[in-house]
Amino acid sequence: MSDKNVRILVLYYSMYGNVFKMAQEVCNGVSEVENAQPILRKVPDLLPEAVVKKNTDIQRAIEWQKDVQVATLDDLRKCDGLVLGTPTRFGNMCSQMRNFLDKTGPLWLEGALIGKPAGIFTSSVSLHGGQESTCLSAMLTLLHHGMIIVGIPSGTPELMKTKTGGTPYGASHVVGLEQNFKELSEEEKVLCRFLGHRVASVTFKLKK
Ligand SMILES: Cc1cc2nc3c(=O)[nH]c(=O)nc-3n(C[C@H](O)[C@H](O)[C@H](O)COP(=O)(O)O)c2cc1C
Repeated sequence: MSDKNVRILVLYYSMYGNVFKMAQEVCNGVSEVENAQPILRKVPDLLPEAVVKKNTDIQRAIEWQKDVQVATLDDLRKCDGLVLGTPTRFGNMCSQMRNFLDKTGPLWLEGALIGKPAGIFTSSVSLHGGQESTCLSAMLTLLHHGMIIVGIPSGTPELMKTKTGGTPYGASHVVGLEQNFKELSEEEKVLCRFLGHRVASVTFKLKK
């Protein structure tokens, strides 16, 4: 198999930049796998202009992500594996990601995602704010598409040590109440990279 022909789509939405920082770490993990290349894409936003205008934290996050291309259905069609990131909203994925996924009917009809490995990552304000339910419920759509779910083995050292994010169902980050954005902890970074690496290596083995 020729070099870097395992395409891992890292598909995410991020309003304050936390999930974006996670997505970058996931990409780093994908890149560690010899034959894999990360394709970073954000789903289209649904935020009203008026909300953005009033919030400098959102404006900062938009600036960070200005060079990331907006995802198309073709990105999903062409990928070999997927790592999907969303903020936790009421214990579930955000509407931007839901909106994008609800447009994947044509891909379902084609069976375009059947047999492709997929992992999930999320960020939430509070430690027990629904990260696990977000990861688990996001899996339902991916299972309908016939994707093969890849998690994080619960004995992974950083998962045992972390005092903030990290779940066996996907990588996660806890922002806390003090601010809208918080840098990832070392354990959270490692677990994001681990997930990217694992999805990429499982995809490589299946493709081979
Ligand atoms: C409408 C809404 C619902 C939210 N629901 C939850 C929640 O259920 N649990 C939680 O801990 N945080 C919740 N949050 C906080 C977000 O999870 C947090 O802002 C997010 O992780 C930041 O990710 P981002 O920087 O990538 O946008 C919610 C935020 C919004 C705007």
